Parts: sequence; C-alpha cells; structure tokens
Amino acid sequence: MKVLVTGGLGHIGSKLIREYAKRDDVELVRVLDNFFVQRYCSLFDLPLNKKYEFIGGDIKNKEDVEKAVKDIDLVVHLAAITDAPSTINNEEETFRVNLEGTKNVLEASAKAGVKRFLFPSTTSVYGEAEGVVDEKTIDLKPASPYAKAKLEAESFVKNAYKELGIETIVLRKGTIFGTSIGMRFHTAVNKFCYLAAMNKPLTVWDSALESKRPYLSLDDDIKALQFFEKNGSPGELYNVLTKNYTMHEIIDAIKKHAPETNITITKSPILNQKPYHVDDRKIKELGFVPEGNLDEDIGKTLRLFKAIQNSNLGI
Ligand SMILES: NC(=O)c1ccc[n+]([C@@H]2O[C@H](COP(=O)([O-])OP(=O)(O)OC[C@H]3O[C@@H](n4cnc5c(N)ncnc54)[C@H](O)[C@@H]3O)[C@@H](O)[C@H]2O)c1
Repeated sequence: MKVLVTGGLGHIGSKLIREYAKRDDVELVRVLDNFFVQRYCSLFDLPLNKKYEFIGGDIKNKEDVEKAVKDIDLVVHLAAITDAPSTINNEEETFRVNLEGTKNVLEASAKAGVKRFLFPSTTSVYGEAEGVVDEKTIDLKPASPYAKAKLEAESFVKNAYKELGIETIVLRKGTIFGTSIGMRFHTAVNKFCYLAAMNKPLTVWDSALESKRPYLSLDDDIKALQFFEKNGSPGELYNVLTKNYTMHEIIDAIKKHAPETNITITKSPILNQKPYHVDDRKIKELGFVPEGNLDEDIGKTLRLFKAIQNSNLGI
C-alpha cells in the first residue's frame, strides 16, 4: 500500500508516519506539508527500512496536491490550521485551508484513483451541546471558525463517496493527548502538562471541573486511522474517543505525577454551560476498542521536561 499523509509533520502525523514503518504491507509513505508550524524535527531520523518521500507543498495549491496523490492508495488528510482559538481572527484563511484545501485533496485523490480517504474532523463540531450527543445529533453549534470549517468539510467528504466514487470516512475525534516528536501544546491536556512542569498554576473554570469532554489518546487515534483503512462504511462518520473525562480527572492525573501543581478555579464567563457527553457506540459496534491511558500519557508528557532543574517534577 502507498500512503499519503497530508500535514504529516504535525502532532498526529509525525507519529503516524513512523507507525507505518512497522508494517510490511506499506510500501511508501509520502508526506505533504507546507511547514505552517515549522516542525522540521518531524523529519529527523525516520526509520530507514521504509520508503519515505517528502513534498514541501501546500494543500491550497492544486499542482502540489496533484503531485502528492499520484499512485497513492490511501490518503490520510491531516493538514489543517488546528489551533482553534487562533482561528477566531483568521477566519478566511482557516476556510481556505481547512475547507477549500480539503476539497482540493479530495478531488485530486478521486481523480487519481485513490481507494480510501480518511478525514479527521473534531468533536468540537458539537459546540455548546447538552446531554449525550452522537453522530445522529443534528443540532450542532460549532463555536470557532476551526470547528465551522471542519463541519462544512465533513459533508463534502461524506458526499464524495457518492459523487466522486472515492471511499471516504470521517473521524470526529476528541481532543488528543500524548507525545510525539512533532507534538503541539495548544491542546488542553498537553498545555496543562507543560504549565505544571514549569511550576505555573493551572487555571480552570468552575463549570468545567465536573463536566465531561471527549478526549482521545494519540495511540488510540493512530489505531483508529489504521482500523478505518479496511473497516467502516464509506460515506459515514464516526465519533472516535478514548473516553469522556472531567477536568477533575485530568487534574488528578497531573497531580499524581506533579503533586505540587497549583490549581486556580475561576468563575466561568459562560453562564449556564451545560455538561455534555460524546457517545462512541457506533465505532465500538464495529469492534474498535480504545485502550488509551490518560495517566500514563500524562506521566510521559511530564517526563519530557524532567531535565529542567527549576521544574516542579522531582521525577
Ligand atoms: N490534535 C487534536 O486534538 C485533534 C483533535 C481532533 C481533530 N484533529 C485533526 O487532526 C489533524 C491533525 O492534527 P494535529 O494535532 O496533528 O495538528 P498539527 O497542527 O500538529 O498538524 C497539522 C499539520 O498540517 C500542516 N499544514 C497546515 N496548513 C497546511 C497547508 N496549507 N498545506 C499543507 N500542510 C499544512 C502543518 O504544517 C502541520 O504540520 C487536523 O486536521 C486536526 O484538525 C486534531
């Protein structure tokens, strides 16, 4: 199998492209990334047993994309502007990359005869939801341009199965935690680990303490991306998560490894923030079993900072 990973230098991609090296059935791993986040380190020391190709190009550029999809069997389309808060002041470019860029990669893939196209969306398309939400929930309230663009891209990707004849699967993923060589620290758990390691207080909204949110370990995410190479119904979307955790559970796990961490609880600026819970029965019914371990991954993330002498870790 020949695989293209767009955005392959990022938090998820940098680990995924290394996982393929463990497989005999993967012949080529091609990466398309425009260094939007400057993670050159993700190209360091790639396993020598596998054929890697790198294209420094942009998903907005049709020529780059056409070159990237040539002779490819599977596309994992990770490239996106991902730091949701930063997209509030960058709406146009977010739509250009996350929606138009996705259309480019999808159309070029279909034209080139790619068999399957995996598209990561986000559980933040549920936005300020309430109660239990699942793939059938229609009252979606994405709050950021990031989530809005992902939601629009989702329907384009789903419809492409019928309209363009390419097998597409949408993964609505929880917030990732866990380490990789190209990891980022915008996301909740990783950011808290960094702050805890640097002796900085963690500021938490009172309303968030006991409300659950969907999280996904990086290992489970990679397992899911490999699972959907062959499983799942084309044109469908699936929630993918390790578990719904409360902020309390996340803080407890951090405190286990960094007991001196200070927690500051503040009043939430959002009134009536309702707890919600993302249901992942649909993927589980296919036989997918998430195995991620929040506690272990938090320990691993904190230990990355262990050599910093003025850290809070004492590891
Ligand atoms: N990390 C999470 O918590 C999470 C949760 C749900 C969904 N996702 C989705 O998974 C995918 C990967 O996420 P990540 O955490 O690895 O993000 P990341 O920001 O670490 O990586 C994204 C990669 O895309 C590249 N990129 C950005 N714009 C590009 C462009 N125009 N052309 C080519 N490459 C471009 C960046 O340089 C970067 O290497 C994204 O689509 C994201 O929306 C992530």
